[in-house]
Amino acid sequence: MPPTIGLARLLAGTLVLGGIVAAVRPTVPPSAQLPAAGPASPFIVEPYLQLGDVPKLAPSEPVRVLWQTANEPGAKWSVDVRQDGREPWRPAVTVSGRAIAQPGAPYRLFNVPLTRLRPGAEFEYRVSKDGVVVFTARGKARAAADQPFHFVVTGDTGADTAQERRVVYQISRVQPDFLTIAGDLVYSAGRMSEYRQKYFPIYNAAVASPETGAPLIRSRLSFGALGNHDAGSGDLERDPDGQAYYLNWALPLNGPYPQANLPNTQPLKGLPAAVTAHLAAIRSTFPRMANYSFDYGNSHWTFLASNVYVDWSDAYLRNWLARDLAAARDATWKFVVFHHPPFNSSRAHFNEQQMRVITDVLEYRGVDVVFAGHVHNYQRTRPLRFLAKPGADRTFKAAGSNAIEGDFQIDRTFDGSTDTTPDGVLYIVTGAGGAGAYDPDQTDNQPTWQPYTMKFVSDLYSFTTVDVNGTNLTLKQISETGEEVDRIVVTKPPRGGPATAAAR
Ligand SMILES: [Fe+2]
Repeated sequence: MPPTIGLARLLAGTLVLGGIVAAVRPTVPPSAQLPAAGPASPFIVEPYLQLGDVPKLAPSEPVRVLWQTANEPGAKWSVDVRQDGREPWRPAVTVSGRAIAQPGAPYRLFNVPLTRLRPGAEFEYRVSKDGVVVFTARGKARAAADQPFHFVVTGDTGADTAQERRVVYQISRVQPDFLTIAGDLVYSAGRMSEYRQKYFPIYNAAVASPETGAPLIRSRLSFGALGNHDAGSGDLERDPDGQAYYLNWALPLNGPYPQANLPNTQPLKGLPAAVTAHLAAIRSTFPRMANYSFDYGNSHWTFLASNVYVDWSDAYLRNWLARDLAAARDATWKFVVFHHPPFNSSRAHFNEQQMRVITDVLEYRGVDVVFAGHVHNYQRTRPLRFLAKPGADRTFKAAGSNAIEGDFQIDRTFDGSTDTTPDGVLYIVTGAGGAGAYDPDQTDNQPTWQPYTMKFVSDLYSFTTVDVNGTNLTLKQISETGEEVDRIVVTKPPRGGPATAAAR
């Protein structure tokens, strides 16, 4: 057991904010290659929580703690956990991590399970090096099916901007149970060096403030979708530490593709030896983790890779998606997250409509809300149904474009206040998480919107916050200064009641 003097020393410098306990350490300028957590810190990346490969709810929930250090094989690390301060610490799990031979900057990656946690409850964990506690935080386990929950969604965020920091700070103020990012997690090529500069120091900042970000991901689960900037070039000569998504995230491994070089997986480029070494480092997650699903409370979540090397009109992929959603028949809510929005009123990225080819699957399988990013603003559609029309060559893509034609059915009576039962799927673009805003002049400029768009806010940065309580859902859009800029309520009949419009 680590000596308590270490914990006492550490707790003397903690800050309690919204139920989140964060170790206070001096902030140092991030560097692409040096430890982002500071020269006095034992970490390159401080500990943060992930769900791991656990798609289904468990009677006692697990989480995983990940962190990165310099490559010191002799160091002895351990983690212990307790549900709350009245319980003794459970015996520590001793770990040695995994060496990652990143060219020019080898490091050690740790991925440690914490088990037997009460669903929906907070817990406390601490990390020790060579017997001395060096980090402590509070976490929260995934909620059970009968527990209400609260999540946030943002996108296009890891840009190292003042706006990203303000958005992250505001996210911490609404105290979510978990965080979801709809792609473009980090700019601009999904590199580990970029995560250490533009993502971890802000989403796992030592203190919560508009200037720093917040200690979010050490205390709450987070989930990411693979955006175009996360996939990066796939060129290991140009970006030798690229595809860091597959190292930094530990998510369910239930996607459709178990190995590289299959159709609809990202091609890798570079010298054969570099590709082989890279695949060895990410072999357990690439390309499986590009798509995944899991349950949280009474909801089912499906995350998809929407990059252009994926053809979602492929029958194998469509069947995987249909089976995943059909298997979630007991879920009250179904949420789907991917990066490229099928329905977008911005001039930016308007023709990148490749995900329209799965809208029929989403509708038939009862998906309630789709969250996307890519377009750096906030947009909400009316509930809608869409059937893509193939061209004469039986493909869906027009020559030289990803624009996809089709037939719309738009629910014009749903308003989210007096009529709260949508007939169709709600599509949210929430890509205003920190990267440069798109088309600010289109805010309140309805003549520039598509007929399906109901709300469009592009003159400020923002994120989406959603409260789920049984068959009621409240969605709000919150700005970087904490202002509410949109709100809707969605309800559905309790089980056994009249069928919802979106047939299951
Ligand atoms: Fe993007």
